[in-house]
Amino acid sequence: MKRWIFGSLVETEAWAAHLAALGPIPGVIYLRGDLGAGKTSLARALIHSLGYVGRVRSPTYTLVEAYPTPAGMVLHLDLYRLQAAEELEFLGVRDYLERPALWLIEWPQRAEALLPKPDLELHMSILASGEHVLQVLARTPPWQERLHQLDRGRDLS
Ligand SMILES: Nc1ncnc2c1ncn2[C@@H]1O[C@H](COP(=O)(O)OP(=O)(O)O)[C@@H](O)[C@H]1O
Ligand SMILES: [Mg+2]
Repeated sequence: MKRWIFGSLVETEAWAAHLAALGPIPGVIYLRGDLGAGKTSLARALIHSLGYVGRVRSPTYTLVEAYPTPAGMVLHLDLYRLQAAEELEFLGVRDYLERPALWLIEWPQRAEALLPKPDLELHMSILASGEHVLQVLARTPPWQERLHQLDRGRDLS
């Protein structure tokens, strides 16, 4: 587990750019934390850092958005409004499971049993000071190596 404290969105974007440079496709990243913690902002920064030039909207209502980036396919999900885990079937994401892609999943707890297992779990929160905190846990060896390469994180393990 590692932790970063970001004083501004620019710092969050720099972190995402560093992760993008480490080649995160394919992979599965869960993004946890309350509304407004910065999950979508981080996902957006990652998608742009992977070379996607268009607008990246929050998938609040569509639940899923697909981004063909020069580095590969990125799927950005926000399952906050998912009523039942089984609804995942109707989002048309199953086909992507068979191809290399980066999955960025906000509110994975809404459908955890039906989702691909995470390589990386992010948890975002906000301090009383207004700074955003990012805690990161890597679940698979290649991602433990990537996490190791991300600098300036305070090692909590
Ligand atoms: N360091 C930071 N990292 C992420 N978001 C930040 C940061 N500082 C300020 N923000 C702002 O906090 C808000 C986070 O909203 P959003 O990314 O939609 O959160 P979530 O997806 O977790 O609900 C945005 O308005 C963003 O500009
Ligand atoms: Mg969001």
